[in-house]
Amino acid sequence: MSREQILDYLEQNRGRHVSGADMSRTLGVSRSAIWKQIETLRAQGYGITGGPNQGYLLESLPDLLYPREIQKGLHTRCFGRQVYHLRSVSSTNQIAQDLGRRGYPEGTLVVAEEQTAGRGRWQRFWWSPPETGVWLSLVLRPQLAPYRVPQITLVAGVSCARAIEDYLGLHPGIKWPNDIVYDGRKLCGILVEMEAAAEQVHFLVIGIGINVNQELADFPPDLRDAAVSLGMIAGRRVERLPLVQRFLDAFEEDYDRYCRDGFAAARQAWLSYQVTLGKAVRVQAGPEEFTGEACGLDDDGSLLVRLGGGQVRRCIAGEVTLLKEDGERYDPGL
Ligand code: BTN
Repeated sequence: MSREQILDYLEQNRGRHVSGADMSRTLGVSRSAIWKQIETLRAQGYGITGGPNQGYLLESLPDLLYPREIQKGLHTRCFGRQVYHLRSVSSTNQIAQDLGRRGYPEGTLVVAEEQTAGRGRWQRFWWSPPETGVWLSLVLRPQLAPYRVPQITLVAGVSCARAIEDYLGLHPGIKWPNDIVYDGRKLCGILVEMEAAAEQVHFLVIGIGINVNQELADFPPDLRDAAVSLGMIAGRRVERLPLVQRFLDAFEEDYDRYCRDGFAAARQAWLSYQVTLGKAVRVQAGPEEFTGEACGLDDDGSLLVRLGGGQVRRCIAGEVTLLKEDGERYDPGL
């Protein structure tokens, strides 16, 4: 008899007390064994009232991203079919990279309640406090040349925006390449790390961080002008579990389409969320920095920037800051 079976049994009988004797008969174990497992489930955050003599009632599920709870509502073929859940970890990308090197299959998901050394783009720290956000990483194994990987990061951004929109009815923006923003503040960041040879990607790790239930005062002072959470926007607590499920469903669908048909559909979807084009931008691309007007998204996902002299530059990777007309920064970035 597994703890899973007890949970399944309680769930099938949601809303009514089930007697320890009935469970013991159905599952073929002693009442004291059931009681012990119930105690463990309680310690894991399942709200189970009652006892061996009164019967048990499942009143609430934990607000934690347990594999079982994620998988119950998933419609995916392979994303999230193997899940590693950690209470606290340095970085889910780090763990997913280790799993990728050890041959774990496409779609392997690492999700944590807290990260102590969350990684952002450009070697920045990604603040990931316990149980208030979605901090997850996926292992992907696309048949792809490394130069196309930036397109997958745009695909992931679109899927994330779509999941937020479907779930909460908000229309977030995407700042090139894939920062999800709302009213100029960052809601979600995506970090893609790859292992590849010259011609072929071995595997990718797609790391997503979504601010969900932080209050403004919870954010470190240096992030308060730049960051926002879904809860702050919605004006209420937002459940993380359905968000994770919708993201995985959306991303697998978008990723499969990308692998099958190429980038065109994701490009169109990206354009419907973008908040970069038509704006004055400063671009940091490696050691180079230039300013201009973001004037288009190329067919391969590169940002097109018109410089002062009218010349258009393509930018396949880089950090973009949106500028006010007077050249002053209004997007503090993260
Ligand atoms: C960015 O700088 O915008 C990217 C932030 C990516 C953060 C996520 S949280 C889950 C995953 N694990 C990490 O260490 N980073 C990514």
